[in-house]
Amino acid sequence: MIFRQLFEPVSCTYSYLLASRPGGEALIIDPVLEKVDRYLQLVKELDLKLVKAVDTHLHADHITGLGALRDKTHCITVMGEQSKADVVSMRLGDGDKLTIEGLQLDVIYTPGHTDDSYSFVMPDRVFTGDTLLIRGTGRTDFQNGDAREEYESIFGRLLKLPDATLVYPAHDYKGDTVSTIGEEKAYNPRLQVKSADEYVALMANLKLANPKMMDVAVPANMKVGLHQEEIARRGWSLSARDAMAAVGKPDVALIDLREQGERERHGTIPGSLHVPYATLQESIRAGGMLNELAKSTRKRILFYCAFGERSAMAVQAAQDAGLSSACHIQGGIDAWKKASGPLVH
Ligand SMILES: [Fe+2]
Repeated sequence: MIFRQLFEPVSCTYSYLLASRPGGEALIIDPVLEKVDRYLQLVKELDLKLVKAVDTHLHADHITGLGALRDKTHCITVMGEQSKADVVSMRLGDGDKLTIEGLQLDVIYTPGHTDDSYSFVMPDRVFTGDTLLIRGTGRTDFQNGDAREEYESIFGRLLKLPDATLVYPAHDYKGDTVSTIGEEKAYNPRLQVKSADEYVALMANLKLANPKMMDVAVPANMKVGLHQEEIARRGWSLSARDAMAAVGKPDVALIDLREQGERERHGTIPGSLHVPYATLQESIRAGGMLNELAKSTRKRILFYCAFGERSAMAVQAAQDAGLSSACHIQGGIDAWKKASGPLVH
């Protein structure tokens, strides 16, 4: 596995770049806006293709690199389903898998620091965001934080992992880089409590100042969605309602860009073909399946995904590849559901 721990000194944030092999797909966890060029340089140097950018939660102390990475690489932005961010390409829930080529991370919902905090587990390591820090835990006094939930997330979920599991947090202010579950159980001062009540009392007495960047970072991090207006202005968008009228017509090929797990969990629009976003490029180039479909049948290619981000990027890519009939369902399955569009499970 290729693994890099990257540091941003102003907010003391750790970001993690993971891939299974040189030349393969990569994902990044908790990227910071100011460091985006550095990440991209490293991705290039390691001969990787960035396909997912993930935030463990909505950060209050730095501006996320999610939007900039998506704009520069067309990667998929990922957060938990509780996140207040306006649009991310993909939302995960407890029990889901976060996958790229050759790697699979178990997704566990670990609220408490915020109500949208997630941890990502691999066989030998866990990315804990701000839920469990090295010799500390995430503060619970804003962003719908809840000390009792954090206690449950830490004691009920994270500390149940094997003692040897490596702990990689989203921050460290002392310069520590990694710990283990066993070490934290034994030496983390916040975890030496006998009950949830004791933990709640401990957290209530921390009296921390708000992060310096909070008033800037939180609003900025809630607005990371791709601007889909340009796609709409060019006539490449259908509202969910217009799409409902088009679906089922013989001249429309409906293409689902989501991953299999999302399809199983949220259902699919009847009659759609599955072309995962990760395989889009090979499908739209000359000789590819969608390219052939568009050219041989003259069908209109109608993309959709979860929230309209992947499909908006797909429309642009397909148009660039000469598929002039490509369009998408604005707002994705989310908008389709709100318009009471039919779904099959
Ligand atoms: Fe945080």
